[in-house]
Amino acid sequence: MGVRMKGLVLSGGRGTRLRPLTHTAAKQLVPVGNRPILFHVLDNLKDAGIEQVGIVISPETGNAVREAVGLGQLWGMKVEYILQNDPLGLAHAVKIAQPYLESDSFVMYLGDNLIGSGIGKYREKFELLGADASILLKEVDNPSSFGIAEIDHDQRVIRLVEKPKQPKSNLALVGIYFFTGQIHKAINIISPSWRGELEITDAIQALLDAGGKVLSDRIDAWWLDTGKKDDLLTANTVVLDEWVKRRIDGEVDAQSQVTGRVQLGYGSRVVNSTVRGPAVIGENVLVENSFVGPFTSIGNGCRIVSSVLEHCVLLESARIEHVDRLEDSLIGKNSVVLRNHEIHQAYRLMIGDDSEVLL
Ligand code: TTP
Repeated sequence: MGVRMKGLVLSGGRGTRLRPLTHTAAKQLVPVGNRPILFHVLDNLKDAGIEQVGIVISPETGNAVREAVGLGQLWGMKVEYILQNDPLGLAHAVKIAQPYLESDSFVMYLGDNLIGSGIGKYREKFELLGADASILLKEVDNPSSFGIAEIDHDQRVIRLVEKPKQPKSNLALVGIYFFTGQIHKAINIISPSWRGELEITDAIQALLDAGGKVLSDRIDAWWLDTGKKDDLLTANTVVLDEWVKRRIDGEVDAQSQVTGRVQLGYGSRVVNSTVRGPAVIGENVLVENSFVGPFTSIGNGCRIVSSVLEHCVLLESARIEHVDRLEDSLIGKNSVVLRNHEIHQAYRLMIGDDSEVLL
């Protein structure tokens, strides 16, 4: 691997598609398998040998991101923060990060993207082949909803098109890009798009137009952009399925059954209940007279009483009581879901932080 490559993680933005959760929290801190998405991103950078990371933050959620990640000690990396006052586009984020990046090569990683493999091999290839940029691509079924790359038989990128009406390829740009310092020149010559943002696809296209060498790699593993509720639940399912190993640190009483790959954190108690993995339950959680089904993540301090949950993500200190069946739901921090009359049906909910729902 080369001597030095920095990481640039984009953790600003508005997160409108994950409202109401993102009114109060950064979407990059929403947990998948009980760990913030951003932590999975930093794991991946660390594994690829990146030791210096700049995180682009917004004024609204920047402090929460700083608090969660700190100076990067958990990863043994040196983390610095770059404030972006307005979310004026991915290329704008690179522009304001230029004093931090200097003319070094860097990998730009969108803070809400998860992929099911490492990126070390892509880094090596980028450095070995001496490209100006290299992008990661993934085949998608609905190319009209993505930024799409047209490539030649050597995987060299010919053209990028944002949400094409008549797509010539089904290769979508995954939110991970390798750049040399050349990208700054390209960003300096582009103008904002119709939506008022400096687009990274325009910058890469400008690099191509100037004769730059832009390569691509097709990823085989899964890729999830966690910006929406259903994607987030899918991400949770995939992460629990692939990464969870059984580990019981809490207490399970004699009337309960905890089967399969389940993590139960310290101070948590399972009382007269069934928990079926894969599932993660954080610390100081109470599960009583309940059933917790597969693909559920329960944050620290939650209380589940006389309820049935499956395929749900519960953020810290949520409370679910007397709910017959809750599935495919995302419940914000400190929220309460209580049933107080006799309807027997499954509920599907997306609830922001500090909410209360009576069913
Ligand atoms: P997007 O998901 O494209 O944008 P967004 O976060 O504003 O979300 P939404 O469309 O729901 O309103 O952003 C991808 C990632 O890049 C995400 O982690 C946020 C980050 N980002 C920045 O840091 N700065 C920016 O100017 C933009 C547009 C995004």
